[in-house]
Amino acid sequence: MAKRKTKFICQECGYESPKWMGKCPGCSQWNKMVEEVEVTGTARRGAFTHSQGSTILTKPTPITSIETVNEPRILTKLNEFNRVLGGGVVKGSLVLIGGDPGIGKSTLLLQVSSQLANKGHLVLYISGEESLRQTKLRAERLHIASDHLFVYSETNLEEINRTIDSINPSFVIIDSIQTVFHPDVTSAPGSVSQVRECTAELMRIGKTKGIAIFIVGHVTKEGSIAGPRLLEHMVDTVLYFEGERHHTYRILRSVKNRFGSTNEMGIFEMKEFGLEEVENPSEIFLEERSRGAAGSTVVASMEGTRPILVEIQALVSPTSFGNPRRMATGVDHNRVPLLMAVLEKRVGMLLANQDAYLKVAGGVKLDEPAIDLAIAVSIASSFRDKPTRTTDCIIGEVGLTGEVRRVSRIEQRVQEAAKMGFERIILPANNLGGWTGPKGVQLIGVTSVSEALRAALGE
Ligand code: TYD
Ligand code: MG
Repeated sequence: MAKRKTKFICQECGYESPKWMGKCPGCSQWNKMVEEVEVTGTARRGAFTHSQGSTILTKPTPITSIETVNEPRILTKLNEFNRVLGGGVVKGSLVLIGGDPGIGKSTLLLQVSSQLANKGHLVLYISGEESLRQTKLRAERLHIASDHLFVYSETNLEEINRTIDSINPSFVIIDSIQTVFHPDVTSAPGSVSQVRECTAELMRIGKTKGIAIFIVGHVTKEGSIAGPRLLEHMVDTVLYFEGERHHTYRILRSVKNRFGSTNEMGIFEMKEFGLEEVENPSEIFLEERSRGAAGSTVVASMEGTRPILVEIQALVSPTSFGNPRRMATGVDHNRVPLLMAVLEKRVGMLLANQDAYLKVAGGVKLDEPAIDLAIAVSIASSFRDKPTRTTDCIIGEVGLTGEVRRVSRIEQRVQEAAKMGFERIILPANNLGGWTGPKGVQLIGVTSVSEALRAALGE
């Protein structure tokens, strides 16, 4: 018998090497190279010639003569879910949903499956993790019953393919990609080769038959979907389902979407009988706000196409020994020292011997520059021990010279703040241009951080 060839594959980025290496040359991570048996000729060829979607030969075509059709979309009852997908499920799309174990991925997909089935679409829910009885128990808890929803406990991809051929569903759910295996690939389920080949095969199945496929992917402790990063490149849409296990709120976030905008997020609450969508996220993020406490501000941040109001909290206290600490949760941690340097140099606050902690309340992550000014005001408010007004909302990007810069979509942000009962909005003067805003709201245009501090803290 011929010797089986093995190779070493980085479990992070998919880099291949004939010999073992401690550090992966592809992604510079340590101890990620794992020995895997090389894929046999047929499996590899099979998976890859078809993974391009079709075998029709194409030729260069003038862009003006290409006909487009709007992707037909199928709506679920969960509006938040539809919005994160860019307006419903696209036929033939491959969607990856990642998240920590126990966060609610199976629950979400089972609910979505039943809603699609209730609309008359045939849905095949394939679980490699739970038995049919376990899935049924969950369905009972969620009050799900539909003749169009088929559950199937199988991990062999060839069998799955055969079943799809015989019952011809419109939607397929694979829970999870780490449990399925392609029989032609000898390495263990969940390994890079398996995950890659199975995803390629699912892509082929979905594209040739026009089936929308949802794949569940587990997340490693580093926070990315287990197995290769390349999984994210192969699929059409990547969603992350996140949240604190101890909180009931769950956030569905799109990080890649070929059919819609990214950074869109949908908010759900895990209830006793499944997930419910949260209609007004600003309300929940401001719910526990402590009024009149120094160090707290509210910002209107755009999450995808929707503005949400979030509280930012800062705590500044004298360093007791050694280097001052700067910590941030929910925002890029480099922003805190940067904004503190701006406050120190441009406003003259002596922050060098102060520890600073920053937190975005409610467990959301914000990553747009429009939150800079609110962070700076929070830090100043805590340092001076002067609370901001509870009816103030602060928006603006801060430059290194202490100037406040224009932000995008100001109307939407202001409208959301007005809706939530905020009375004064401190915002970049450049954004105003004669605009006075909605009724009952006072807009205060500022050009620099010191002007903003004067308005917010009365300095
Ligand atoms: P699950 O969907 O199994 O998570 P995942 O597939 O991401 O691993 O979610 C399981 C958790 O959700 C479990 O801790 C129980 C909780 N849960 C509810 O609170 N209410 C419900 O109706 C259901 C079905 C689950
Ligand atoms: Mg699950």
